[in-house]
Amino acid sequence: MITAEHLTRRYGTFTAVDDVSFTVEPGRVTGFLGPNGAGKSTVMRMLVGLSRPTAGVAHLFGRPYAALPNPGRRVGILLDAAAQHAGRTGREVLTLSALMTGVERARVDEVLAVVGLTDKEAARRVRNYSLGMRQRLGIANALLGDPEVLILDEPANGLDPAGIRWMRALLSGFAAKGGTVLLSSHLLSEIEKVADDLIVIGGGRIVAQGTQEELLAQAGDQGLEELFFDLTASTAREGVVA
Ligand SMILES: Nc1ncnc2c1ncn2[C@@H]1O[C@H](COP(=O)(O)OP(=O)(O)OP(=O)(O)O)[C@@H](O)[C@H]1O
Ligand SMILES: [Mg+2]
Repeated sequence: MITAEHLTRRYGTFTAVDDVSFTVEPGRVTGFLGPNGAGKSTVMRMLVGLSRPTAGVAHLFGRPYAALPNPGRRVGILLDAAAQHAGRTGREVLTLSALMTGVERARVDEVLAVVGLTDKEAARRVRNYSLGMRQRLGIANALLGDPEVLILDEPANGLDPAGIRWMRALLSGFAAKGGTVLLSSHLLSEIEKVADDLIVIGGGRIVAQGTQEELLAQAGDQGLEELFFDLTASTAREGVVA
């Protein structure tokens, strides 16, 4: 379970994340939706201790991420798929992660198979990877420690339709086994088919959250897309350049 309580992040006088609170439940897929610059990545970075909140707290299993013993075995993270070492092969990236988190080597082959990277692809250097291949490698890295929680920032970015379908199945399966999934997107279409729950952020603030059914009921004839567009447009701040 993931909890954010009154998370706030300021950069100088600019408030990127403003009093954000939510709970992400196990056994469900939670979509974190918001337009560019809404604060999704900033929230996710605070969840895993990569950015310090100006105010508020983020907990995983009831503790700050940094206080978890061997967090790599409990929480799988994909924040920036481009952040892999470009000079290493995909297999080397995963093997190093396995060594660092104490995961047995055989797991590298397992996750490569799960994300559909072939032996040949895994032997290529990451700098030569396509965006979709990089994304698959990032997901493989997140799955490596057989975690209970997945935190994925825009994991569908760069995936082709088959890749998006594959990822949906993967995340639904992960949640069905009791896992907790938080995935962000700026596109409702990417997550509405997979998300049980939705958290919508605009201008650093939560503008809607609930189960997809609740939000669909709230939207009525207007539909989710229009509802969220209205809600996030009305929170856009002056001085924020999209
Ligand atoms: N280090 C920083 N210094 C100053 N402002 C920042 C910093 N990091 C993020 N911001 C600002 O905080 C706001 C939220 O950014 P964030 O990256 O969290 O948005 P996002 O929802 O992930 O957007 P996207 O869909 O484009 O990935 C933006 O206005 C961004 O410019
Ligand atoms: Mg982002």
